[in-house]
Amino acid sequence: MSAGKAPSVSRTVQTQLVFPEHANALGKAFGGQVMSWLDMVGGICAMRHVGGLAVTASVDDLVFERPLVIGDVAVIEARVNAAFRTSLEVEVTVHGERMDNASRWRCVTARFTFVAIDGAGQPCAVTPLQTECDDDVRRERAATVRRDERLARRRSGAE
Ligand SMILES: CC(C)(COP(=O)(O)OP(=O)(O)OC[C@H]1O[C@@H](n2cnc3c(N)ncnc32)[C@H](O)[C@@H]1OP(=O)(O)O)[C@@H](O)C(=O)NCCC(=O)NCCS
Repeated sequence: MSAGKAPSVSRTVQTQLVFPEHANALGKAFGGQVMSWLDMVGGICAMRHVGGLAVTASVDDLVFERPLVIGDVAVIEARVNAAFRTSLEVEVTVHGERMDNASRWRCVTARFTFVAIDGAGQPCAVTPLQTECDDDVRRERAATVRRDERLARRRSGAE
């Protein structure tokens, strides 16, 4: 256990009905629209954690597993996996729900890196993450491994 803010404090959920203006020519939710929802909900989660402004630095592991169609309900959930020096990893998941048969399925997952910024737009220190359960600890460890790999790729010039 560490001092700081728990993931449950910043967890953010948005529920969105898929309308025709959100869809592509196939009547399915347009990927760019869904990414906008992910970025918005993930960003609010990050800002709840840092207690101030945060900007999107990068997106990893974005996967569209199953589609949403017009009339479906999208449930977009974000949680902090790990907080580092000035950045944090936020995982965002979208589930679809269909009212007529009470079905629910996972549609999209992604991991965002947000960076806390001060009033001058410079990166600033983030509140540590306070893990509360084994799942929090597991997620924090996995996010730390991913961050080390990301930084190594940047150092080697592969990104
Ligand atoms: C994100 C940004 C603030 C980082 O600024 P920077 O000068 O590179 O800052 P630093 O090198 O000090 O890095 C700050 C943190 O960002 C992280 N970071 C920077 N670039 C990153 C990237 N591409 N992917 C993941 N993390 C990144 C660093 O690892 C560091 O994290 P740490 O402090 O936890 O170790 C800057 O690149 C930026 O403003 N980008 C544009 C953001 C934007 O416009 N987003 C869309 C609208 S919200």
